[in-house]
Amino acid sequence: MTKLAVGWVSKRAAAVPGSVFTLMNAAVAQARAAGHSIIDLSIGSSDQSPPAVALEAIRQATLDPLANRYPLFSDTAPLRHAAARYMDRRFGVTLDPETQVLPLIGAQEGLAHLLLATTDPGDTLLLPDPCYPPYLGAAAVAGLRVHTLPLRPEHDFLPVLDDVPAALSPRALLLNYPNNPTSAVASLNFFRAAAGWCKARGTLLIHDHPYAELSYAAAEAADVAPSALQADVSGRFAGLVELHSLSKSHHMGGYRVGFAVGDAEVIAALGRVKGAVDFHPWLGIQAAASAALATVPAGLEVFQSRRDALVPALHALGWQAEWPQASMYVWARPLDGQGRGVRDSVAYAVRAARQTGVALAPGRAFGENGEGYVRFALVQPPELLLEAVQRLAGVDLVEERL
Ligand SMILES: Cc1ncc(COP(=O)(O)O)c(C=O)c1O
Repeated sequence: MTKLAVGWVSKRAAAVPGSVFTLMNAAVAQARAAGHSIIDLSIGSSDQSPPAVALEAIRQATLDPLANRYPLFSDTAPLRHAAARYMDRRFGVTLDPETQVLPLIGAQEGLAHLLLATTDPGDTLLLPDPCYPPYLGAAAVAGLRVHTLPLRPEHDFLPVLDDVPAALSPRALLLNYPNNPTSAVASLNFFRAAAGWCKARGTLLIHDHPYAELSYAAAEAADVAPSALQADVSGRFAGLVELHSLSKSHHMGGYRVGFAVGDAEVIAALGRVKGAVDFHPWLGIQAAASAALATVPAGLEVFQSRRDALVPALHALGWQAEWPQASMYVWARPLDGQGRGVRDSVAYAVRAARQTGVALAPGRAFGENGEGYVRFALVQPPELLLEAVQRLAGVDLVEERL
């Protein structure tokens, strides 16, 4: 028989990096087969419940036959208005819900289409390293050149924009604070400087802000998790766009909903690309998101109690661990008694998963500058986090000593 399906992979698809989580899944399966109970700390998927009002909105929508139709742009008005009210209440940012807000099927979808809407193949994208891995895939799909900006502890995991070569004309800069994976936060002054830098270079500033509500000290949220849009007091947000998500702050990861805010021209371009691809989230999900955005996010104390259990336990083990002010991660450097670190974080994480059933995200999965680190997602109760640390204490950091 003639083989039909040969060579159908586009250069674009082939350029999308594979995921090390496939390796991790295999290691976890081996651990399970060997009889270990699994403590999965590898993925930042909240284990808390969405707000009750969001669930009720979905229940109501299932009873309404009109909610089953394709959602048109005009049908997204309630969510666009709810998002604008949220931005005003939370950040003091005033938006026109008609032109400066657009619902998304999650920030991940939004970013991939935003790059298609605002860049052309061959343009340069400035990306932090380490970063949320789908950024690299989205850049590959859009055919972009990536120039990485190292995030180093000596600079509080903030990029040094002055290090970007003057000859480079980056089309866009992508930032994310509170940061995945490092948990670092950025001040409004940092965003003001970044916005000024982008304006001077003719670069679009994209801020991915899914951890906006995950600041441990709620009273300080305005300081540790500002909106990049606060950097522009003109209300036009020229060259500025921000992606929000209900996944983390409202525990609705599987519902796939978020929104983009900012420069009306950028929002219109994003809407145009999305118009060729999707029909907005289901109306029930939109209603749930609108209801959730009107609530004060709950569940933060849960993440805080987990952080407070995990970080001292890692320190007691002799590891370096940042003490996060926000996000749902702990970014840690495993160290042995002689202060020697892990040279191959992927090999270490696979070994740890196989030997103990504890699944972590290896630092290198997030970029070269993540090497030597592992990321813990605070998605299990404190007692399981402590159990995980106890099990990890028995894993050799350097493979040669196995
Ligand atoms: C930085 C960052 N952006 C985006 C996302 C995905 O957001 P969403 O679920 O809204 O697609 C994540 C999820 O881990 C993330 O860490």
